[in-house]
Amino acid sequence: MTLSIVVAMALDRAIGKDNKLLWRLSDDLKRFKELTTGHAILMGRRTYESLPNGALPNRRNIVISRTLTSLPDAEVFPSMDEAIKALCEQEEEVFVIGGGKIYSSILDRADRIYLTQVEARFPDADTFFPQINQTEWVELSREEFPQDERNEYPSALVILSRKK
Ligand SMILES: NC(=O)c1ccc[n+]([C@@H]2O[C@H](COP(=O)([O-])OP(=O)(O)OC[C@H]3O[C@@H](n4cnc5c(N)ncnc54)[C@H](OP(=O)(O)O)[C@@H]3O)[C@@H](O)[C@H]2O)c1
Repeated sequence: MTLSIVVAMALDRAIGKDNKLLWRLSDDLKRFKELTTGHAILMGRRTYESLPNGALPNRRNIVISRTLTSLPDAEVFPSMDEAIKALCEQEEEVFVIGGGKIYSSILDRADRIYLTQVEARFPDADTFFPQINQTEWVELSREEFPQDERNEYPSALVILSRKK
């Protein structure tokens, strides 16, 4: 099974504040939908709670929580290990979609990172992506996107693969 992280991160590694995103990037959300639709997505309990309409449609929603035992629209696992063990047998690729706590515990095991690099800084953010050790990763592709009326900041979609 390929374990893929999907994250939008600012230049200072900020990813969120007050359990919300820090920007409006419509085209990035569109790309996120295309990438993850039809697949399993794995998230922390707080990221699940940040979704305005609950589980994301047309995807297998997996939530990691020590405090919840069930949800009406998602599968709940008490630890990352248990979730990955169950998914390994059933899925070819799992997309880990946040947030900060989940990224920190999965980065060392991830095979791939779909990174949206947001070209801005957010000094008062409260959630950050862990440091990526560039020596462990190879850049497969990079695409630049300008700021416009639907995308608050310029960004780049970078696909990183763990070096063999
Ligand atoms: N920019 C992006 O790409 C992006 C993506 C996703 C989220 N975000 C942002 O990130 C922020 C949320 O991140 P966060 O770090 O506060 O929360 P989070 O990682 O989404 O969820 C944390 C919760 O997940 C559960 N959890 C985490 N690790 C666990 C483990 N190893 N074993 C069992 N349970 C575990 C715990 O739930 P219990 O407390 O229930 O035990 C924990 O409180 C928000 O601001 C959100 O908007 C940004």
